Amino acid sequence: MALERTFSIIKPDATRRNLTGKVLTMLEEGGLRVVAQKRVELDQEKAEGFYAVHKERPFFNDLVAFMTSGPVVVQVLEGEDAVARNREIMGATDPADADEGTIRKALAESIEANSVHGSDSLENAAIEIAYFFNENEIVG
Ligand code: CMP
Repeated sequence: MALERTFSIIKPDATRRNLTGKVLTMLEEGGLRVVAQKRVELDQEKAEGFYAVHKERPFFNDLVAFMTSGPVVVQVLEGEDAVARNREIMGATDPADADEGTIRKALAESIEANSVHGSDSLENAAIEIAYFFNENEIVG
């Protein structure tokens, strides 16, 4: 096992329903530690840049509209195998497929309004962290 950092977003459906604390409790009880965090509103350009890899997907415009529809909490999580651990705690992208006990099973509204984002690899985690945070904003 290795100590890793991953990138996480608490999405607008969760901030709208005042579920920030609930999401954080599930992440912390799952063994992850918040080492950087801010609550922001994404503008169109920032959201499009973040999801650029999905640009050709049919859901891209709706995804960007959703992610700019309200505040999000962007954060860096640290822990043993943090990338995989965070994905386990989040559950499957579509809440209909998510396991019991996961954030998306418990809280998500739909495949789009699925409450949380988490990096899918250590390489992407580094890219996504740098998209939102300077090194001096990360305090372990
Ligand atoms: P996320 O981990 O933030 O990465 C891309 C997001 O696109 C994904 O979570 C979903 O919330 C969203 N999305 C919307 N529709 C789909 C879809 N049909 N398939 C996959 N992701 C989707």
